[in-house]
Amino acid sequence: MSNLQQKYLDMVNQSLESYVYPVTDGQDIVRDAMLYSLKNGGKRVRPMLTLAFCEVCGGNPHDALPFACAVEMIHTYSLIHDDLPCMDDDDLRRGKPSCHKQFGEANALLAGDGLLTLAFETVTKAENIASADIVRAVKVLSNLAGCAGMIGGQVIDLLSEEKSVDYNTLHCIDKLKTGALIQAAALLGCIAAGITDKSILRAAEVYAENIGFAFQVIDDILDVTADTETLGKPVGSDEKNEKSTFVKLLGLEKCRQLANDLTDSAVSALETMPGDTAFLRAFAQLLAKRKQ
Ligand code: IPE
Ligand code: IPE
Ligand code: MG
Ligand code: MG
Ligand code: MG
Repeated sequence: MSNLQQKYLDMVNQSLESYVYPVTDGQDIVRDAMLYSLKNGGKRVRPMLTLAFCEVCGGNPHDALPFACAVEMIHTYSLIHDDLPCMDDDDLRRGKPSCHKQFGEANALLAGDGLLTLAFETVTKAENIASADIVRAVKVLSNLAGCAGMIGGQVIDLLSEEKSVDYNTLHCIDKLKTGALIQAAALLGCIAAGITDKSILRAAEVYAENIGFAFQVIDDILDVTADTETLGKPVGSDEKNEKSTFVKLLGLEKCRQLANDLTDSAVSALETMPGDTAFLRAFAQLLAKRKQ
């Protein structure tokens, strides 16, 4: 891991929990469940992207921390709900029993709701960012996390179980359920730096779309090729649920090629970004080779 990556990781891990403020009316169980899922084990890919884009765009990454942590809260909530028996029914997450295994289904549902809500409260805590940019961040994040974005992707993912679907449907699933939040992470970094230039925002979007799509293709590969201990979540979940994935449609080798091609496209998109994009280039390549 590069020094810069370690710096971003430490910044995220040191500040995430501070946003989960204490509660005093006997509802600590939901806060405990939120913290349980948020703490440890996550790779923090999305919040690191927010900080990196902020810095590349000339902003101070410390100012972007509330945005970065908000994205990680939404991601964590999506994992809690994704593991519920009514969705993928998986009992292990980030190397620990899934939230519903530890706290029961109702508390896991509420912990997810709590993290989603807290994410937007956290966005408003970005003290060094102009109010107009906080409003832009809320607009982008709510759109990309919602029905037109991540939630939409989860819906189509569930509708596609036990079916054979075509390339375009699979692309749509991956673009939405995983790509959309990764896109939000990148855009929030640019917004935190006060960027309004459409060509810069578009370059960030194209980079994120491509690494986001690749990220889910690799997730599906790892579901088949990795071991549970390394992944920290059950392997074979997709087969168990008869999910439609690119691995099923194209086979492992073509999936690896697809992920590499998408990574190349992401790196090319950076050519039109001003600033030092070396970290973002290396990060895309690192993600393409990830084993967990
Ligand atoms: C897992 O995301 C779910 C997907 C969208 C593929 P990550 O692989 O980023 O999970 P954590 O945050 O590191 O646990
Ligand atoms: C999850 O996709 C995407 C979201 C949670 C939005 P998966 O169901 O493949 O993620 P894992 O493999 O359980 O982490
Ligand atoms: Mg799922
Ligand atoms: Mg799942
Ligand atoms: Mg998966």
